[in-house]
Amino acid sequence: LRHEALEQLHKVADAASLNDLRVQYLGKKGQLTEILRGMGALSAEERPIIGQVGNDVRAAIEAVIAEKQDGFDRAATAHRLQAETIDVTLPGKAVNLGSVHPLNKVAQEIEDIFIGMGYSIAEGPEVETDFFNFEALNLPKNHPARDMQDSFYITDEILLRTHTSPVQIRTMKAMNGQTPVKIICPGKVYRRDDDDATHSFMFNQIEGLVIGPNIRMSDLKGTLLQFVREMYGPQMEIRLRPSFFPFTEPSAEVDVTCAQCSGKGCRMCKHTGWIEILGCGMVHPKVLEHGGYDPNEVTGFAFGMGVERIALLKYDIDDIRHFYANDTRFLTQFAKI
Ligand code: PHE
Repeated sequence: LRHEALEQLHKVADAASLNDLRVQYLGKKGQLTEILRGMGALSAEERPIIGQVGNDVRAAIEAVIAEKQDGFDRAATAHRLQAETIDVTLPGKAVNLGSVHPLNKVAQEIEDIFIGMGYSIAEGPEVETDFFNFEALNLPKNHPARDMQDSFYITDEILLRTHTSPVQIRTMKAMNGQTPVKIICPGKVYRRDDDDATHSFMFNQIEGLVIGPNIRMSDLKGTLLQFVREMYGPQMEIRLRPSFFPFTEPSAEVDVTCAQCSGKGCRMCKHTGWIEILGCGMVHPKVLEHGGYDPNEVTGFAFGMGVERIALLKYDIDDIRHFYANDTRFLTQFAKI
């Protein structure tokens, strides 16, 4: 039996047949088990001898089975590792990369231009008090000019800022009367407008404020001309039209040469050759006082521009809503600019 079993075991080529043989010899109804079970019929002298032989045979068979099983296990593992091998030379799958949003890009460009002129960046809260948003900017309660900026009120005294101008006051107060003040403030502002191609309830502004002894309107004009030429090209011109803001006196609206027709006149500039880009003026004496400055000692200028508007003009985009829809077909166009 031993001879026969070992011979068969040596021939076994797979784990399943190995198991069959184990059952055949060592299983409950296996051949060796049968023999050992039949030992009761033997005489007392024969029993230990046959028992010993039986155990030896069992041990020998078990040893061969274990050895074989081990071999099969190793082969299976090797096979699996082989199958799982990764070809590191295959080209990878391309990952979709995001890109800087065009509005952020334009805002950064504007910031860079002013940083190059020695400005620092200031920030203020989007949830603002009535005092900073209106009162301190010479817009007392019931002032008709408050209607220019329909507001989202949270309480009677707290609202979403309608412009970045409150940061003028916050900056002045933080400076404690020191000069020069030379800041720009980028940020989101909110107005109760119905959204359309040129209006949005939320948009981005960049405020500018300069205060010092003897700051003049010509400084403002030179600064804006420099900005416009860096932003849109050296051939650009600007013109200042008289306007009104309660917090500046005199006030002006600034037009740039229409980039579309180089000033010749087209539909975009309503055949004037000019396109409005921002509001500005000399800081009103009352505003200087609210900020802790003596209007007899210092003067200043301020300006405020809409980032969306600057970006629409720069990239010839016809609808402000493209900026907020997050359609990647729109956004990816700016990835490489
Ligand atoms: N705050 C004004 C607006 O939102 C813009 C402005 C800023 C005008 C500073 C003059 C000076 O329309």
